Amino acid sequence: MKTTSLSYSSLFLFLAILSCSSWPAQSHGHDDFLQCLSLHLQNTTEISRIVYTPNNPSYLSILRSSIRNRRFESASNPRPHVIVTPMYESQIPAIVLCAKENGMQIRTRSGGHDYEGLSYRSKVPYVVLDLVNLSEITIDVEQKIAWVQAGAIIGQLYYKISQTSRTLAFPAGACPTVGVGGLFSGGGYGPMLRKFGLAADNIVDARMIDVEGRILDRKSMGEDLFWAIRGGGGASFGIITAWKLKWQYIAPNLPDDLLISISIGPVNSSTGKKTIQASFGSLFLGGVDTLIQLLEKRFPELGVKREDCIEVSWIQSALFFGGYSIEESPQVITSRNPQIRSTLPITRFYFKAKLDYVQKPIPVSGFEGMWKLLKEREAGMAEMLVVPYGGRMSEILIAASFPS
Ligand SMILES: Cc1cc2nc3c(=O)[nH]c(=O)nc-3n(C[C@H](O)[C@H](O)[C@H](O)COP(=O)(O)OP(=O)(O)OC[C@H]3O[C@@H](n4cnc5c(N)ncnc54)[C@H](O)[C@@H]3O)c2cc1C
Ligand SMILES: *[C@@H]1O[C@H](CO)[C@@H](O)[C@H](O)[C@H]1NC(C)=O
Ligand SMILES: *[C@@H]1O[C@H](CO)[C@@H](O)[C@H](O)[C@H]1NC(C)=O
Ligand SMILES: *[C@@H]1O[C@H](CO)[C@@H](O)[C@H](O)[C@H]1NC(C)=O
Repeated sequence: MKTTSLSYSSLFLFLAILSCSSWPAQSHGHDDFLQCLSLHLQNTTEISRIVYTPNNPSYLSILRSSIRNRRFESASNPRPHVIVTPMYESQIPAIVLCAKENGMQIRTRSGGHDYEGLSYRSKVPYVVLDLVNLSEITIDVEQKIAWVQAGAIIGQLYYKISQTSRTLAFPAGACPTVGVGGLFSGGGYGPMLRKFGLAADNIVDARMIDVEGRILDRKSMGEDLFWAIRGGGGASFGIITAWKLKWQYIAPNLPDDLLISISIGPVNSSTGKKTIQASFGSLFLGGVDTLIQLLEKRFPELGVKREDCIEVSWIQSALFFGGYSIEESPQVITSRNPQIRSTLPITRFYFKAKLDYVQKPIPVSGFEGMWKLLKEREAGMAEMLVVPYGGRMSEILIAASFPS
């Protein structure tokens, strides 16, 4: 069974503001680091292809290439002494050792979606280690296993899977431009979480470089560290270079096959007054008939009809949750900086969010308080997203455990 149904009363929107500030470069403190690198790596042609100092004309565009929070582009944020974009895992130990030797910290960046800019900001001298060129994905359909390098974005992963199999999928996030380095090491929730858990719950091995420049895998890092990097944030422990993933069959089975997410935000009513609108979007791993029956029984308040639903392949559902039309070629989700089609003069989207886990039901007075805030002028285009977990998510223990 390979269809997936989407139902919605309105689509998700990712918000955007125009970019374009000039950003003068600083240039000092990188000479010793470069000298150290050339001692360790020797091949100067290769070094010149992966190192960007502030004198390099591409320095600023590389630095800004994946920044999602515009606040951190401003000149008040100290810039890295150097940016390195390794092409091989084997180049990273030298970068770690040379940074250490020269008292520089490392900021590892995969997709650049960190809400607080932690992958490209620091108050002390630092190197940005940008993994954009470590994005290889190798797939073994027989074994239902894949290795994905940490610099890939989830759109590249989804696309590659869809080109390999129509019946296999991987449960990760909704937004295709998020990097697997940050997403998987922080957990990674998405539309299939009730069925399969987080992305991190479906990782069976990893490669990582530690502070001594050692290349580790699951066996050599040990179970405690392997557990910690799947949820504890990768940068707290080292540099993750690749993940080994276990794939999942997408098959019908009630009711974990149903995810409902609710986005809530201010809109103008027909009378011109500001009001609050809640949009229910849903992913169901099964056909429309079963979905309609299920919703009539479990969620009659929504009044979902056949016309509200579309049967799609898994990769089309990835387009949908990524904010694209399902008619679009799936290849669009491999873009790190998709063009935004909009009436506003926007070329890419920027984003800021805060998350929390709600353990007890929010009382009506809590919602009323939120409505008041959302209706304030300052809230602008703010949006609140509610994603009920449960399902597989309630079965996975906090202690180290994963499907063997
Ligand atoms: C538009 C948008 C949509 C999002 N949608 C989802 C979603 O659907 N589901 C979800 O779970 N989350 C989502 N997030 C949150 C996202 O998962 C986190 O912000 C995540 O940390 C971003 O990973 P990244 O690699 O893109 O970011 P980065 O900024 O590159 O990295 C984030 C953090 O991880 C560290 N890190 C990155 N790569 C490595 C590595 N290889 N080794 C060690 N440390 C590393 C960085 O140093 C930094 O501290 C979204 C965020 C944005 C901005
Ligand atoms: C240095 O690296 C470049 C690019 O990878 C390669 O073409 C060249 O052969 C290498 N030189 C040496 C001496 O290994
Ligand atoms: C590194 O990745 C960027 C972005 O995908 C690409 O433009 C560039 O050509 C790559 N560099 C190398 C040396 O492959
Ligand atoms: C709602 O109306 C206000 C005032 O007319 C306008 O500035 C705003 O852009 C409108 N918002 C939306 C979401 O249409």
